[in-house]
Amino acid sequence: MSVLEMRDVTVTFGGLTALDGVGLAVAPQQVHGVIGPNGAGKTTLFNVACGFVRPDSGTICHRGTPAERLRPTDLAPLGVARTLQGLGLFDRVTVLENVMVGADRHARTGFLGGLLALPGSHREERALRERALATLDELGVAHVAGLYPPSLPYPVRKRVALARALVAEPELLLLDEPASGLSAGEIDELGTLVRGLTDRMSVLLVEHHMDLVMRVCDQITVLDFGRVIARGRPEQVREDPAVLAAYLGETV
Ligand SMILES: Nc1ncnc2c1ncn2[C@@H]1O[C@H](COP(=O)(O)OP(=O)(O)OP(=O)(O)O)[C@@H](O)[C@H]1O
Ligand SMILES: [Mg+2]
Repeated sequence: MSVLEMRDVTVTFGGLTALDGVGLAVAPQQVHGVIGPNGAGKTTLFNVACGFVRPDSGTICHRGTPAERLRPTDLAPLGVARTLQGLGLFDRVTVLENVMVGADRHARTGFLGGLLALPGSHREERALRERALATLDELGVAHVAGLYPPSLPYPVRKRVALARALVAEPELLLLDEPASGLSAGEIDELGTLVRGLTDRMSVLLVEHHMDLVMRVCDQITVLDFGRVIARGRPEQVREDPAVLAAYLGETV
């Protein structure tokens, strides 16, 4: 069974068709890439998967369960976590607290409950704190746990945002342009990191950087002008004439 399946999804904005009958299936423990030139519909597809954008037609299933009126708040209970193109970190709480917020799915009273000091929340908060620290450590940024996001370099903040998504132990991680703004070396590390997640989860990787996608993905869906123009394994997609034509004139 697929972790995420979209069938025949169409999204229009006014007169513009951003997605036109797009289908895609993310298999368990696979990295599924979505690539395509600027304006191809990648972010729109990501937003449909998150429930930010409701399609005009088509279906979305998370683990076989149709998510007809999916809203962003439905994601955590479905075992889905995401990072955003903008980082979405809270500036006025520490890195550690930012990550703890992401763990809400498993906490009985939740981090908010912790803040309100509900009964039983103390032990949970301590466990949560430890998990958040362990996740920061896994991403190599435990040393900034007590700092505030605005004081950190962008690549470090990206890792914090990723830690916040991972701490919920999702079954599906949705990543929109995780490589944007990173150096070649950092993109390389990111690739290794994403690849290392597949023993625990599936990943939908929406990304402009062809080379990263080629390196880490099991399956790739290529969009152009809102349509799927190719799909398959990296070596198949790389050679596809339609893909080469779509990327012609772009820096790949
Ligand atoms: N909220 C919106 N209102 C109107 N048009 C939109 C909206 N969001 C996206 N579009 C249009 O839909 C098309 C697909 O955009 P989308 O952002 O999904 O592309 P993308 O593949 O993510 O591009 P990029 O590589 O630049 O991030 C584009 O023509 C874009 O201008
Ligand atoms: Mg985009």
